[in-house]
Amino acid sequence: MPRPRVLSGVQPTGALHLGNWLGAIRNWVALQDSHDTYFCVVDLHAITVPHDPARLAEDTLTTAALYLACGIDPQRSTVFVQSHVSAHSELAWLLNCVTPLNWLERMIQFKEKAIKQGDQVSVGLLDYPVLMAADILLYDADLVPVGEDQKQHLELARDIAQQRINARFAPRDAAGEPIPVLKVPEPLILKDGARVMGLTDGSSKMSKSDPNEGSRISLLDPPELITKKIKRAKTDPTMGLEFGNPERPEADNLLGLYALLAGKSREQASQECGAMGWGTFKPLLAEAAVEALRPVQERYQQWRQDPGAVEAVLRDGQAQAATVAEETLDRVRQALGFLPRS
Ligand code: AMP
Ligand code: TRP
Repeated sequence: MPRPRVLSGVQPTGALHLGNWLGAIRNWVALQDSHDTYFCVVDLHAITVPHDPARLAEDTLTTAALYLACGIDPQRSTVFVQSHVSAHSELAWLLNCVTPLNWLERMIQFKEKAIKQGDQVSVGLLDYPVLMAADILLYDADLVPVGEDQKQHLELARDIAQQRINARFAPRDAAGEPIPVLKVPEPLILKDGARVMGLTDGSSKMSKSDPNEGSRISLLDPPELITKKIKRAKTDPTMGLEFGNPERPEADNLLGLYALLAGKSREQASQECGAMGWGTFKPLLAEAAVEALRPVQERYQQWRQDPGAVEAVLRDGQAQAATVAEETLDRVRQALGFLPRS
């Protein structure tokens, strides 16, 4: 039996933060033992909002190096850059032509991002989930580990595969049974860490696009900066940390962060911090964050010290990914009835 396949990716827009790590990348690491894992840096997604061409390449390398620093092992995983495998753009076009426009207009993330941008919204921003579906479907992924915010995009990828491709274009075997063209993927959203909130507002998620740097902890923030951001994080006037009180989103978020970063269960964290004031809790949380990120930052520096090392990983990844992706793309082209390429 071949191992089940996993695919996921993060956009190279600004430094990755604790939400990306705890919600997504941390879960990728464990899957390497049991699954056939593909992780891409989704640079084509990064240009769906206005971007700086002088930074894109560097941010792509930084993101790839952070995957490696977080424990993605190039011996066990295929690590690559989305735009290096042209099948992603090509399958996205084919899927575009079978995806109803109103499926995309309903996407929550599109609506949120479109509101922020006013009349500057590109067709690419609307089409973003179709490109994401192409990323996943090209690799016949069984499982897609992501944070909670990507759930709707995953459902869209499933619907496109099932209803728009397999149901309409599957070839038949000798007995007349349909042979699915695309594998229908499942999301993997772990409860803990799936939605990390910002430090300056416990009711909005930690995000790369928040203009306030103090709202997020980046994986490469130096210890003093981490401590400063946590010191300034929003609190409330109540004594003691607790989970699940809807009046106290900051307490819930920061206690959850503490549990994850210190490697403790939620029960342990509640017990330990239940009676603490904010002034005692915050230094504890800061220390847990600094210690959790220390090994990531050290490994990051090691990868970046050798100038060609990350590029070499990405070159191998491109070759491996392209082989798998081209095969799937061929299957879709055939199912849609294109004249075969010679
Ligand atoms: P992005 O930064 O939008 O490219 O997201 C990359 C991955 O990180 C996706 O799997 C997201 O679901 C996850 N992610 C982003 N922000 C958060 C957050 N605040 N909490 C948990 N997961 C997140
Ligand atoms: N849209 C995802 C995000 O912003 C990133 C992404 C693009 C992705 N393609 C993907 C995630 C494929 C998982 C699988 O978080």
